[in-house]
Amino acid sequence: MLIRKPSDIPSSAISSKDRYLNRRRFLRGAAGTIAATGAAALGAERLGEVFNPRITALAGTKLETVKSPLSTTGEDLTSLEDITHYNNFYEFGVGKGDPARNASGLPTRPWTVRVDGKVKNPKTFDIDTLLKLRPLEDRIYRHRCVEAWSMVIPWVGYSLSEFIKQCEPLSTAKYVQFLSYYDKSVEKWTSESTIFWPYSEGLRMDEAMHPLALLTFGLYGEVLPNQDGAPVRIVVPWKYGFKSAKSIVAVRFLDKEPPTTWNEQAPNEYGFYSNVNPNVDHPRWSQKTDRRIGVPFYAQRRTTLMFNGYGEQVASLYSGMDLKKNF
Ligand code: MTE
Repeated sequence: MLIRKPSDIPSSAISSKDRYLNRRRFLRGAAGTIAATGAAALGAERLGEVFNPRITALAGTKLETVKSPLSTTGEDLTSLEDITHYNNFYEFGVGKGDPARNASGLPTRPWTVRVDGKVKNPKTFDIDTLLKLRPLEDRIYRHRCVEAWSMVIPWVGYSLSEFIKQCEPLSTAKYVQFLSYYDKSVEKWTSESTIFWPYSEGLRMDEAMHPLALLTFGLYGEVLPNQDGAPVRIVVPWKYGFKSAKSIVAVRFLDKEPPTTWNEQAPNEYGFYSNVNPNVDHPRWSQKTDRRIGVPFYAQRRTTLMFNGYGEQVASLYSGMDLKKNF
């Protein structure tokens, strides 16, 4: 296998897909990038065949993508360094730097997603089947956490609706629940918090079917780093980040609202909807502004936009609803 250090790669060899990869990323060194170079050449569809079945880190494996018309434009991307070192993934610790330090043991192959509840037939999808289901798109989205910080992330995935169609939900399915991987021998930090595991999140069916809701496999053109929810997570860009469950292993279709992690923890602070809303403060802090991670201190503060700036696309989902009550 040809192993090249990033400094050996001439700029002429960097494809357009790579153009947004910033220098800091290259400086992180060859380790992660090179581990999977052989698989990268084969394309995403064969990842499962290349690696040892108990592989825990595919970091650096490239994904074949197409550009998406649904991208946000005009904002600088947050660096890969910040996206991967300022995380919330409580299964791997409560500190922002803990997931990057602790998530390397997450076994991302083999990986399956179980589908059950109000569906024609319960099914199990292998991760490599999911990767092939639809062309993978590069979608740049604003990412906004309820803790009032934000990032701009180039995700890779396809509309969750494409996956939901394959699940064949019944007409009685009104909600969809996402459950994350939970194994306390791997995620021993789960005992540090009072959360009921596994991490659970949910959407109303029409929200889940909205084209912006993303079934996400990667970022910056490569498979998701473990700390960002490998090998597959949800991203709902108009909602606070906690609605976007990481490392999902089960999807359940229900006729009623599912219990969700943060709503169970503190129902007065975290509602089921949790649409980004500058007019509804968190009981302990304001949501009017947020702090953009990775930019100089004087430029960090920005005014938070309703629905995180996606109002034109999603506001109609909530017409007639009191968004102060349904926060
Ligand atoms: N999913 C799981 N399984 N566990 C978590 O702790 N944290 C949520 C969400 N998904 C979380 C999760 C929260 S609070 C946020 S803000 C986002 O993931 C953070 O995503 P990021 O670390 O990729 O920025």
